[in-house]
Order: sequence, then structure tokens, then C-alpha cells
Amino acid sequence: MTQRILVAVAWPYANGDLHVGHLAGAYLPADIFARYHRLAGNEVLMVSGSDSHGTPITVHAEEEGVTPETIFRRYHRRFLETQKAIGISYDLFTHTDTPNHHRVAQAMFLSLWEKGYLYLKKERQFYSETLHRFLPDRYVEGTCPYCGYTSARGDQCDNCGRILDALELQDPRCTIDGSIPVVRETEHFFLDLPKLEPQIRAYLEEDKEHWRPNVIKFSRNYVKGGLKGRPITRDIKWGIPVPLEGYEDKRLYVWFEAVIGYLSASIEWARLSGDDDAWKAWWYDPAAKSYYFIGKDNIPFHTIIWPAELIGVERLYTDEGRFNLPYDVPANEFMNIQGAQASKSRHWAVWIPDLLERYDADAVRFYLTRVMPETSDSDFAWEDFVQRNNGELVAIWGNLVHRVLSFTAKHYREVPVPQQLDARDREMLALTREAFETVGEALSAAHFRAALTAALQLARETNRYLELKAPWFRIKEDRQAAGTTLYVALQVINNLKTLLAPFLPFSAEKLHRYLGYERPLFGEQRIEEVTSEGKRYPVLRYDPASAEGQWAYSELPAGQPLSKPKPLFRKLDPKVAEEEIARLGH
Ligand code: MF3
Ligand code: ZN
Repeated sequence: MTQRILVAVAWPYANGDLHVGHLAGAYLPADIFARYHRLAGNEVLMVSGSDSHGTPITVHAEEEGVTPETIFRRYHRRFLETQKAIGISYDLFTHTDTPNHHRVAQAMFLSLWEKGYLYLKKERQFYSETLHRFLPDRYVEGTCPYCGYTSARGDQCDNCGRILDALELQDPRCTIDGSIPVVRETEHFFLDLPKLEPQIRAYLEEDKEHWRPNVIKFSRNYVKGGLKGRPITRDIKWGIPVPLEGYEDKRLYVWFEAVIGYLSASIEWARLSGDDDAWKAWWYDPAAKSYYFIGKDNIPFHTIIWPAELIGVERLYTDEGRFNLPYDVPANEFMNIQGAQASKSRHWAVWIPDLLERYDADAVRFYLTRVMPETSDSDFAWEDFVQRNNGELVAIWGNLVHRVLSFTAKHYREVPVPQQLDARDREMLALTREAFETVGEALSAAHFRAALTAALQLARETNRYLELKAPWFRIKEDRQAAGTTLYVALQVINNLKTLLAPFLPFSAEKLHRYLGYERPLFGEQRIEEVTSEGKRYPVLRYDPASAEGQWAYSELPAGQPLSKPKPLFRKLDPKVAEEEIARLGH
């Protein structure tokens, strides 16, 4: 039975390039998951976009002396290019400054207001007397009252993950000029989390066996002491206006509206694909499942705040049904760089556009999956990158493919016709069939490292099989016996191509063609300019049209012509590790 799967991916702030933390933390696992489900015949809707509002953007714009719009447009475009190049197959990657997103976010706000889930309250806020303005969120830094981290921001502590009220910070200072802010009163709209608390608790108490233990533990802990109302408006100019008279100077808080992007992007996707209501099947049919791929610093927004918004609003643009709540939130931990915490300001980061200048997308994807921070923080280390590229990707998989394909193409020109299979041959084929279950189960449980390990295990086993059978020598005395071995090896390779395709889509497509197939395994990703309600902007879209990949054992027919292949991957010179390490930190 086909299933509907919503793959909701964290929205990157459009204020800087993407780095390996973004990719290993959220986009790559989401993409592997989406590709797997597409191959498995499920109906996938994968959405995200650039998070274009909030103080991360405005602070950056002020530093550069340009408008926030300039910043977000610049990085939005770069996100499209980078993610297309690394193969993140969003059905739609848009942004939060579209007329559609503004409208949906305002509709969510109004619905909560009308249902009594918002209240107005005077609040004390940091204010700068030198700059004559309020200093929301990232305009103030200080010491976290919970964990003592000294660079906690006004919105959240990056060390302990808590959402903060800026006034809780000790030793607050303004991030623009370093001055010490004063406190002033201002009025804001608050999300009434205490009122929604019973339903949030009920949601978090439901069966969460499939959740990662750290995610559910963090979330349950969060509600333990009782929830407090959260202000969801800000005194800034850049952002989505509050849709009520008398509040023209206020904007919706970026986190309140960015999570709404999952919904608005689904609506936008439906409109672009020509069926305005198509999104509803993912949002209202209780049988549909939604998975939110995020980094661990985003957990409370996806397991508390976003469910609270969905519970409060119940439904939008329909008369019946209720919004589906997140089915799973497989948040990843952080990725360190060469043993030290990544840091933009200290230039301790590995940027994706840089990586793609020097390495192939699949080589990067392979390494990031091998060390994906699924259950604990992990480390990106260049020696390890080279080692795993050469010792695993090339040695276990690339060489296997190359050796078998070029030898068979040279000596047989086509997939050889097998003779009677022996026990070892049949065992290889049985292992291959089983792998679809083992790898598939791991993937649907969002256990990406385990899934890749299981697929590599089959490739290792195939190498052993070939060592034993040695068709390269056997061919001299018994051409048909060697042909049988090559036939079996080609069957395994053809299926491993599919098993590895969610991880290594580019090389899988190449191999698919070398094996004589014409239609691609996956659809095509395009950067498109769309015009919507008078605004023109680029998006990334996935067109599934001619895809033929299927998550099932398939037989490569004897007699299918084979062409001489090129190596799928490149071996790296170990000295690139030193060169790359030397690039870090400045
Ligand atoms: N922009 C946020 C960040 O980079 C993530 C937003 S995720 C979403 O941390 F929920 F808003 F979509
Ligand atoms: Zn803290």
C-alpha cells in the first residue's frame, strides 16, 4: 500500500552559505529518506525554503550596510545552486518572503487570535538608548542562566538548547555596539502555551517508541515544569506584519512563522503543480506521516511550538479534519570539525560550495552519511574523509563495479547467459534480496548510518565472492563458468545500485546507464523562476516525470548490452587532508 510521507526539512537562515553541519544535520538525512520512499513507491512531499526573516538576517544586513532583502536574496540563490549540486531533492524549496507564505502565516495568527490562543501583554524588553530602538533576540547576548554559557543569544542558548527570554540573560550586551541595554515596556502578542498545554502533553505522551530517545526525553522534560506563554511578535521592521489594526509597527516572530513554512510551502507546491488542493492529503489524512528533519537546537520549536500552533488552529482552508501533528522528529546532533566545535566567526567550518569545487557530490554525501551525528555529536575530520573515500567508497564499491563491468564489457560485451547456479551463487542472490528488507527497514526508521553499513556489507560480501570465484582467471579454462560468476556479480551490482541510490544518487544514475538502462532512477531537479502574485523569485523543484527506480530486487536480463564504463569515483591523494586542514581557521 502506498503511503503519503511529508518530508519537512529545517529552513536555513538566508544569512550565510551552507556548511557540513546543515547537510549532515538535516538536509542529507531528509534527502536519503525522501529518495528511499520514492523508490519504495510512496508519495513523498519534501518541502523547505530559505528562512528570510528575523534578527539573524537583519543583524547581518546591518553589518554589511545593505537591506535584509539583499542578504536573503543573495543566499537564497546560493542555497538553490548548492543544494541542486549536492542533490537534495526537494519537491519545493522556496522562501518565507513569498506572498503565499505571508498570507498563510497571517491566517494562522488570526485563527489563533480568534480562538483565544493569543493574548496581548505588556512586556519588558531590552532597549538601546544609544540606538533608540528595541533589541530583540540576537541583538543581545549574555550568559545563559541555565548552563552558564557566556555567549548565549537573546532567543536561545546554543549550548544547552533552551529557548530563552532575553531578560533572563546575565551580563547582557548589545551585539551592534556592545553597549549595555536598558529595560523598557512594549506590548506583544503571546502564544498561550499554558492553555494548549494539556493537548501538547497528550501529544507527547502518545506512543513515541519510534522517536529518538534524546528527542522525546528533551521534549517531555520541556513541558515538565509547565509551559509559559511566549511572545510571538517583535518590534522590528523586517518580517511579516501583524494582520490587525493598530499594530502596524510589529512583525511576527521569525520562529512563529518559519515553522508555518512547512504548511505554506506544501500549499505553494500544490499550486505550482496545478492542483490547488493536492497538499491536503499530507496535512489532513490521518494515515499520512510527517517527518521533520532538523538539528537538535531546533527541537523545542518542532515538538512543542509547532504542534501547539497546529493544535490551536486545527484546520485551514477546509471545513473538516485536523492538521496532522509531526509523526517523527529525527533530530540530529552536531558535527564538529577536526575535533573542535564548528564556529562561523572563528572560520572553523567546512562550506558546501567549497567542498563541491574540489570533490564529487557523492563522495561528500558518502562521508557525511558515514559520520552522520545521529545519536551523538560526531566529527568531520579530513584524514577520515580521505581514508573513507579511498578505503571504503572506492575500494569496496567503486572498484567492484569497475572491475566487473569493464571485464564483462571487454570479454562478453553483454550480460552473460548463466549456467546452473551453485550454492554460493544462490547465496549471493539471496543476500541481495534480503538487503532490500534490512536496508529498507533501517531507512524507514531513519537509521541512516546503519542502512549504509548494511549496504556496504553486501558489497564486501560480493568482493569476497569474486575472490573465491576469480572469473578473471577462470575465463581461460572455462568461459561459461566465468560468465556465470559475472552474471551473478552483475545481478548484485545492479541491485546494490538501487540500495545505494538514496545515498549516492549521482553515481547510481551513471551506473544505471552503464548497465544498459535508459530512463533514470530518479526525477529531475530544476531551478525555476516562478511568478506568484506579482512577485518573481527562484525556487528548486523536483520533477518525478520519467523516474523508473524501484526499491525491489530486479533482474538484469542476460544479453543486455554493456558499454565500457568510466570509474564511478576518484581516489584522493592523502595530502589533500593537510591542504584542507590548513584552510581551516582563517
Ligand atoms: N532558520 C532556523 C535555523 O537555521 C531553522 C528554522 S526551521 C523552521 O536554525 F522550523 F523554521 F523551519
Ligand atoms: Zn544554556
